[in-house]
Amino acid sequence: MVSLDKLIDLKKLPKHVAIIMDGNGRWAKKQMLPRIIGHNNGVKTVKKIVELTRKLNIQVLTLYAFSTENWQRPEDEVSAIMALLKTYLKSELATMIKNGISFRVIGDISKMSKEIQEELKKVIDKTKYMKGLVLNVALNYGSRQEILRACKNLIDKGIKNPTEQDFSDSLYTKGLPDPDLLIRTSGEKRLSNFLLWQIAYTEIYVTKTLWPDFTEEDFYKAIIDYQKRDRRFGGL
Ligand code: FPP
Repeated sequence: MVSLDKLIDLKKLPKHVAIIMDGNGRWAKKQMLPRIIGHNNGVKTVKKIVELTRKLNIQVLTLYAFSTENWQRPEDEVSAIMALLKTYLKSELATMIKNGISFRVIGDISKMSKEIQEELKKVIDKTKYMKGLVLNVALNYGSRQEILRACKNLIDKGIKNPTEQDFSDSLYTKGLPDPDLLIRTSGEKRLSNFLLWQIAYTEIYVTKTLWPDFTEEDFYKAIIDYQKRDRRFGGL
């Protein structure tokens, strides 16, 4: 069998891949394990996919890790996700620096604990001049909140007749190219308040695979599918 990495065109890779990492809970339920074990395994997938995107020289990887709606989950699940995030930041900083990864966050982190905010600021600061992959993690992120915030920023700046560029520059994703490819795992066909402005022309790929089961091969399949699309951006 030809391995899938041989089937991708390295000259036509997406610059920016965004992922809605869904299905951690279902993965755990299927095995009669607590949901947090699903999130734990989800972090293992995060590490694999970050490493692969870096090796492929993809410029930006945006991961939807925690939405503005996720606070509604039981308190013990929320604190377990926060604990996983903290462990991830502490354990991965050295690897990020070694591999030239620049870590960024989109979302309102002021609502997160002081401890997490400090850890996030530390990792952002220590990796800000890295020239390789931009690893952009969405935390307490909601696209409608981001759009409203952009409107308020424009009003504050006194810009009465904003261009699309002015608007893009007021979003958390300022300076980043829009995603070329959006992957959603676990089969749900919805956008869940994720990057609504930025994905106007993004190719969407949905796989039934649950996030903890998502492998490098699955990522290659998404890229192969993306490379077959005829992207016309509204033209002919
Ligand atoms: C979706 O599965 C997953 C989440 C809401 C949390 C994702 C968080 C992590 C993987 C950990 C922290 C992230 C990083 C970048 C280290 P779900 O719980 O909605 O699954 P379900 O729909 O099957 O219940």
